[in-house]
Formats: sequence, C-alpha cells, structure tokens
Amino acid sequence: MKIIIDTDPGQDDAVAILLALASPEIEVLGLTAVAGNVPLELTAKNARIVLELARRTDIPVFAGCDRPLLRPLVTAEHVHGRTGLDGPDLPDPSMALQDTHAVDFLVETLRREPPGSVTLCALGPLTNLAMALRRAPDIAERIARIVLMGGAYFEVGNITPAAEFNIYVDPDAADIVFRAGVPLTVLPLDVTHKALVTSARNDAFRALGTPVGRAVAEMTDFFERFDKEKYGSDGAPLHDPCVTAWLLAPDLFTGREINVEIETRSDLTRGMTVADWWRITDRPRNALFVGGVDADGFFALLTERLGRL
Ligand code: BDR
Ligand code: CA
Repeated sequence: MKIIIDTDPGQDDAVAILLALASPEIEVLGLTAVAGNVPLELTAKNARIVLELARRTDIPVFAGCDRPLLRPLVTAEHVHGRTGLDGPDLPDPSMALQDTHAVDFLVETLRREPPGSVTLCALGPLTNLAMALRRAPDIAERIARIVLMGGAYFEVGNITPAAEFNIYVDPDAADIVFRAGVPLTVLPLDVTHKALVTSARNDAFRALGTPVGRAVAEMTDFFERFDKEKYGSDGAPLHDPCVTAWLLAPDLFTGREINVEIETRSDLTRGMTVADWWRITDRPRNALFVGGVDADGFFALLTERLGRL
C-alpha cells in the first residue's frame, strides 16, 4: 500500500511514522509537513529527525503550509514541548528538505500514480490536503482514501470544550476535506483516548533495547505528563499511531459509516465535528467514524513492529 503522511510532529506523529516505516505492507512515498503542534519550520525538521532515527533518509520530506487557510495558527507547545518533539535527545537532521512545496508534491504524485493507489494519512491540521484539493480538484477521485486523526464525538474536545486540536486549528480546511467525496476514515478522540500508554506498555517499548524503542519510550514519557495532570488518565493517548494501525489491522477497530460535518462559524464550537453517530438525519454518509479499539491488540502490533526498526 502506497501512502503519503501529512504530519505536524509531535511525539505521537513520530510514533505513527515509525510504525509505518516498520511495516512491510506500507510504502511511504513521502512526508509532508504542516504547521500545527509547532510552527512549520519545526515540524519539517522533526519529520527529518524521525526519518534519521529510523535510518530512512531515502524518504523525501516536503514543507507545506505554514498557517491555516483563514485563521491565525494555534500551536500546542503545552502538550508537545518547545521543539514539538521534547523528551528524547535526538540529533538535528542532516538530510535536506525537498525544494518542492508539499502541496505540489501531493498533486504531482496523485496525478502520476495509478488512480486509487495512494492513501493519504493526515496526522495534523488539514491545510495541505485542503489546498491540494482546491488547487487540483481532479485528484479527489484518484485518492484511494484519506485516513485522518481528528475530531471527537462522545469525548468532545481537547483544545476547546467542543473541538479536537487538528480540526480546530484549521476548520475551513477540514470542511473542504470532509466534503471532497473522497473515502474517509476518521480516528477521533473517542478511539485515541482508549489507546493509552500505561507504564507497562511504555516499559515494553523501552525493553526493545534499540534506539527507536528508547526514543519512543522517552517521547511518551514526556507526552503523557500532560494527560496525566490534565485528565488524570493512566498514560498518554497515542492519537496519531491509530491512523497507521487502522491501515495495518482495521479489524482491531470498530466504527460506523455516518455523516460528519465541521462547524466553521460559531466562536463557541468552532472546529466541532458534528457526527451523526445515531443517524438522526438523512444527510449523506461521508466518513467511517471509528469509535472503538482493541487497545491490547493495538499495543501488541505497535511494539512488535517498532522492534523491527
Ligand atoms: C492531535 O493533536 C496533536 O496534538 C496530536 O499530534 C494529534 O494529532 C490530537 O488532538
Ligand atoms: Ca499530530
């Protein structure tokens, strides 16, 4: 399966990328960086740090949009630290960024590859994907599927009471993506808050005894302090790796094909994913909205795969 990962690393983005790199079923055509958890300069740098950690400097990294379509950028250093990848002490990257803009790379790749052969994995705000769909509407029918981490239903919000971070940061972009008519899988907080790195699960990463295992353990050590303090939860939710895991083992997850629309106007609920979970309306179904995960199965898969790097 060919994929492009659009990302704003982010410790959990890093783990999602590593899981893809560790999996022979997946061919990563490129990483496209977007502004989100931290500004673009840092997400584009962090993407390369992760590739160098995995010794996969053959995969190109493209910088994309440095701000949301219509709004000022909101970042999340309070969760991810100043660098976005606080925790492990990883060297600055020596591999270069590509000259091509991420949006051009997305459009060119989707036009070059056979229709229906490339899946887009979105781990951050949806600005790059929305720009590509707006610039080149013909790519919509060439995308196999968009699999994204974002939104919430029962779990509601993590950046405002009503909204999840990725959708909140660029709701106008999310609106474009959710209306694009592309097959869509959504991994919302309802799932990711069930994929918690307990200390036993983190010990299993560390026990791999590899640079990747250690780095992942140190990333989640850092990342979880926020959720432990804020929600009193038993470890950090590994949001973005749910995207990669869904590609590899969709049977670990349960969900429903429903209508999901994005609130773009209200100051109070901006970025809310209005998910018609109970199919109350007859609005068209536009997303597989995932609600459950076999967390033990998810961590078994993740740990085994990371051990291959
Ligand atoms: C999402 O926001 C970011 O902070 C994480 O990397 C994840 O993509 C969770 O709401
Ligand atoms: Ca992310």
